[in-house]
Amino acid sequence: CGIVGYIGKKQASNILIEGLKKLEYRGYDSAGIAVLDNDILVYKQPGKVVNLEESIDEKVVGKTIGIAHTRWATHGEPTVENAHPHKSNNQEIVLVHNGIIENYKFLKDELLDHGFTFLGQTDTEVLVNYIQYIQDKDQSTIDVAVRKALQNVNGAYALAIIDKKEPNKMVVTRKGSPLAIGLTGTNDEFYVASDAIPIIEHTQSLVYLNDNDVVVLERGQQMKVTDIYGVEKQYKVKTLDLNLDKVSKGDYEHYMLKEIFEQPSTIKNTLFSHLNTENSNIHFENLDELKEKLVKASRIIIVSCGTSWHAGIVGEYIIEELARIPVEVEYASEFRYRNPIITKDDIVMAISQSGETADTLAALRYSKAQGATTFCVCNVFNSSMARECDFTAYTYAGAEIGVASTKAFTAQVAVVSLLAIQLGLERNEITQERANSLVEEIKTLPSVVNHIFNIDDHIKSVAKNYIKTTSFLFLGRGINFPIALEGALKLKEISYIHAEGYPAAEMKHGPIAMIEESLPTVIIATNNEYYDKLVSNAQEVKARKGPIIAVVNEDDSEMIHTADFVFKVPRVSDMLQPIVAVLPLQLFSYHVAVLKGCNVDQPRNLAKSVTVE
Ligand code: G6P
Repeated sequence: CGIVGYIGKKQASNILIEGLKKLEYRGYDSAGIAVLDNDILVYKQPGKVVNLEESIDEKVVGKTIGIAHTRWATHGEPTVENAHPHKSNNQEIVLVHNGIIENYKFLKDELLDHGFTFLGQTDTEVLVNYIQYIQDKDQSTIDVAVRKALQNVNGAYALAIIDKKEPNKMVVTRKGSPLAIGLTGTNDEFYVASDAIPIIEHTQSLVYLNDNDVVVLERGQQMKVTDIYGVEKQYKVKTLDLNLDKVSKGDYEHYMLKEIFEQPSTIKNTLFSHLNTENSNIHFENLDELKEKLVKASRIIIVSCGTSWHAGIVGEYIIEELARIPVEVEYASEFRYRNPIITKDDIVMAISQSGETADTLAALRYSKAQGATTFCVCNVFNSSMARECDFTAYTYAGAEIGVASTKAFTAQVAVVSLLAIQLGLERNEITQERANSLVEEIKTLPSVVNHIFNIDDHIKSVAKNYIKTTSFLFLGRGINFPIALEGALKLKEISYIHAEGYPAAEMKHGPIAMIEESLPTVIIATNNEYYDKLVSNAQEVKARKGPIIAVVNEDDSEMIHTADFVFKVPRVSDMLQPIVAVLPLQLFSYHVAVLKGCNVDQPRNLAKSVTVE
């Protein structure tokens, strides 16, 4: 979900709606705003922000304080009743919430006993009424009531709250879900949002809240931060240097296509942020203190979700091969809750585009509490993970707006590759010569991946054959196995076609039963090492009349005769194959989805940044 808030002199509704549009990638099941004058005006609509925009009337004119929300449904269907903002029973307090209140049933029972009623099923409606309940009891100001209420709340939240009785004040707070405040240099105007993007067109001075910060934004007063017990806290103002152009679609029809085509430059930016251009030495800012620990690590545990988890598996192959450190790759959500064995010599490394995914963040925090050294590979500057980890290696892919991740993935793999080379060298597992030759090849990647521009039309024409297909199998071996997983995930996410990624050799232990004329298999056959075995796997599919699409090297000699269609990519070392082989699969899923009429940038039911566990 995404939150926006504004208090100032301008018309709040315009700022809120524009802000919501920029946060829509966080969820788009429903959207709503509340603005305050003598009364609280609430507008809510199911579906996209444009629906909400159309429903707003002239009553909002001149209202200069408001809060807004775009929702990814957790409790309750995406109906108007369940959409945010939610008002309290006395119609005086209104709030927007990102997160989950875990003990809401307990709080709801208490409120029901006191005669409160509920319109929908959300945990958020319980929270706003709980704040009213506390306020009624204590006859307190809104900030005091919020602090006291939060002392009895379990769960994750980012909240923006206004109270009709105090029309010059907004209270915002976070625990587990991100929230930033934009400062304008005057005490008369403040911006609030789940991330920097809706704020930066108004101001580049931001305060990122920490967990348990409760902030009072009041006209004419300096921003005030306390903890939930009212103890005053210091805050740091960050000056950003973000350009809005970088987060627009430009001439592209979709963000996803723009982001796929940006990869030559995003890979370049990422690589050369960690490579000295003069001597090709690898460097990671601020790593020095931790280098020793990393080099001596007995194990690296990678925790992540979704596409970032696939980057983690690629990382496992590369780090084990070059640095000979045992690597385990875990779904963050599973790892956190299974009482994992973590020692002080372990490095727990999160890979996350957003740096905010709740499952990954929880796994990191858990590992840190167990004494592990924590590390993250992250794309968003100053995200929660970046702030909380012992060390952050940034990917420099720029803002990724398309919900299905593309350029962040290749940037993650690029960073992990450099790290593996560095560790391999420090641990004497690879020679300086091997490191130099890998680095020299890595430096050519930005121009190598330019080939996507040449293969796009062909991929689009192949995609036309598959718009009615209902199921796909993706096969890969070795370092390209995670690329099979990623190819399948991309297709599922944006075209809603069932797709399964499998290690090619495992096909004979199950999926082969599904092979028939209507089930195409995508085989990633760019590896040098396993090429012959992949050709055999392709023959097994062919013998059962299964159609084949193969990703092959430009100089391929055998697969080209077996497959129905091929996507050719340049030949690079095995270690670097994933970055090159994933590109045609990103384009393939994009074209299938567009041809099917799907909303590729905002696929149904998904959200880009899932900040609930
Ligand atoms: C969501 C997104 C995926 C993403 C995953 C992990 O599910 O839809 O595209 O891979 O979260 O996100 P992260 O920001 O941690 O990489």
